[in-house]
Amino acid sequence: MQATFKAQPSDIILATMLKSGTTWLKAIIFAVVNRHLYTNTHKNHPLLNSSPHDCFPFIHSIYEKNNQNQLDSMPSPRLLAVHVPFSHLPASITDSGCKVVYLCRNPKDVFVSLRHYLDKMKPVGCEMTPFDEAFDLFCQGVFPFGPFWDQMLEYWREGIKSPEKVLFLKYEDLKEDLAENIKKLAKFLGCSFSAEEVKRGVVEEIVQLCDFETMKNVKANKEGEHGALVRFKNSAFFRKGKIGDWKDHITPDMAERVDKIIEQKLLGSGLMF
Ligand code: A3P
Repeated sequence: MQATFKAQPSDIILATMLKSGTTWLKAIIFAVVNRHLYTNTHKNHPLLNSSPHDCFPFIHSIYEKNNQNQLDSMPSPRLLAVHVPFSHLPASITDSGCKVVYLCRNPKDVFVSLRHYLDKMKPVGCEMTPFDEAFDLFCQGVFPFGPFWDQMLEYWREGIKSPEKVLFLKYEDLKEDLAENIKKLAKFLGCSFSAEEVKRGVVEEIVQLCDFETMKNVKANKEGEHGALVRFKNSAFFRKGKIGDWKDHITPDMAERVDKIIEQKLLGSGLMF
């Protein structure tokens, strides 16, 4: 985490595990927080004209671009994303009033999603680590930003300890009932939907705006790129958007192995997949 970064108490921090639906939740939070500025169905809505990664940047990508101005000129509440564990967040985030939303996903789907992503993004001539070898490393906890169990447990425990500070979400729950989770999110962020807004269908509009097919087909998500040191094709963030795609890639034996690890590591925490 950049040593010079200083959070403001009104910042909203989205912390996620890689490939857990970060792009999706960026769009959802952006739409919820800015709903008074845009009519979601309006064609000028930023989410219909730019990537969620431009609307809701990663802190590290702002620093990669050496763009402190971007941070200073962001409207309040600033929407900023990270992949680091809770224990690596600066005190200006953890000890201030700013809110932290955490998103994770079934590790088997994360692993498969990451494989596809890396395959699309790898530089020409670069070979992928063989599937079995990469899976073995994943089970040993070799993963960007640390073992998946450590990251999710840290945020899970913080969410129990300080529910007003950390909201813990799962990709699977968002898929199951996005409208209900949008309402929960808005309440957590201190901008609950009024009965009138619910009646007017504002929640439903956000569900539609952030729907996988809608987002995938936005021109900026189909053809655009983002990133500073490394350029990322926005289209690589939209693949299948399904629960349980791992079944087409991971053998039952491999699944049993990772399930045992999940069970052991999360034992007694109350967190389950
Ligand atoms: P799959 O590869 O399983 O399809 P991240 O944004 O953290 O990199 O996560 C990418 C994953 O989220 C990809 O999963 C992608 O397809 C999925 N995703 C992106 N937008 C989504 C949406 N609107 N609804 C559901 N899933 C979405």
